[in-house]
Amino acid sequence: MLRKIGILTSGGDSPGMNAAIRATTRAALASGIEVVGIKDGYRGLVKGQFIPFTAKSVSETIAKGGTILGSARLPEFKDEEVQLKAIENMKANDIDALVVIGGDGTYRGADALCKKGINCIGLPGTIDNDVEGTDYTIGFDTALSTIVECVDKLRDTSNSHHRCSIVEVMGNRCGDLAIYSGISCGAEILITPETGYDEEAVLEKLKHLEAQGKNHAIVIVSENVCDVKALSDKVSRVTGFSGTATILGHIQRGGSPTASDRVLASRMGAKAIELLVAGVVGHCVGIKNNEIISYPLDECVNMTRSSRKAFYRLFAKLV
Ligand code: F6P
Repeated sequence: MLRKIGILTSGGDSPGMNAAIRATTRAALASGIEVVGIKDGYRGLVKGQFIPFTAKSVSETIAKGGTILGSARLPEFKDEEVQLKAIENMKANDIDALVVIGGDGTYRGADALCKKGINCIGLPGTIDNDVEGTDYTIGFDTALSTIVECVDKLRDTSNSHHRCSIVEVMGNRCGDLAIYSGISCGAEILITPETGYDEEAVLEKLKHLEAQGKNHAIVIVSENVCDVKALSDKVSRVTGFSGTATILGHIQRGGSPTASDRVLASRMGAKAIELLVAGVVGHCVGIKNNEIISYPLDECVNMTRSSRKAFYRLFAKLV
């Protein structure tokens, strides 16, 4: 019999996490299930930092970025001892199941708890869109909108000064923020984990664009693929453009979630409770073809990322 659940947010925060906490809380309460919010992800679970939640606890949160519960990365959660401490705290507080909101690291923690008999349901909360089995993660759309807004502004000034703006975006080994923003912003060049980095080819392409009369250029680069500062210096040295590097950084993680992220998070939060009430164990929630689905957490953490070839082909046609 499911009487009480805990909710936590873990890993890098993402806009829409609060909407997911709110929907999960309200759907649980509507089903007669008690809710506790857990502070700072798995760290709060291990420390026993539980806050009883009412419908009021999540009022005025749907439009807020970040997470009202706080988040953390806890690499030690891989240790069995640490997991057992978390389970002990859950049992002492009569918490029957968990809803965890985060990315792949969060899912791995939940999968470990499931293997020890604790039911966990995962919701994909990360700006990176790198959770397999779902078309979109909560926060991706907002981060993408932030990037587009910033790059549109850079375009105005680049255009006025014959510049090549090299913009680094986040993504944690996943090129989705880069490819989606590259298409949305009309970038000229894209450098992602999928494309790889060929400095010579980038410089040649810029020279070619210049020869065609291009006044400015936008290059979108996924983090950790190349050094954007070194590339912009090289661009200034060997092409007619003046290279400028902009690392968008954590600004991409903040801000009020878009309507699309709020709706996605609300649908997913409600689904988590539907699954728990139905007695489903160890699943994560996703969206496929605009339908909210669920699938086993242990499958999700072992899946390889599906190809984005169609997006890259589209990008190539638009330049
Ligand atoms: O997973 C979200 C993310 O913002 C990644 O895009 C990025 O690589 C990482 O987190 C940054 O982490 P931190 O905030 O811990 O520096």
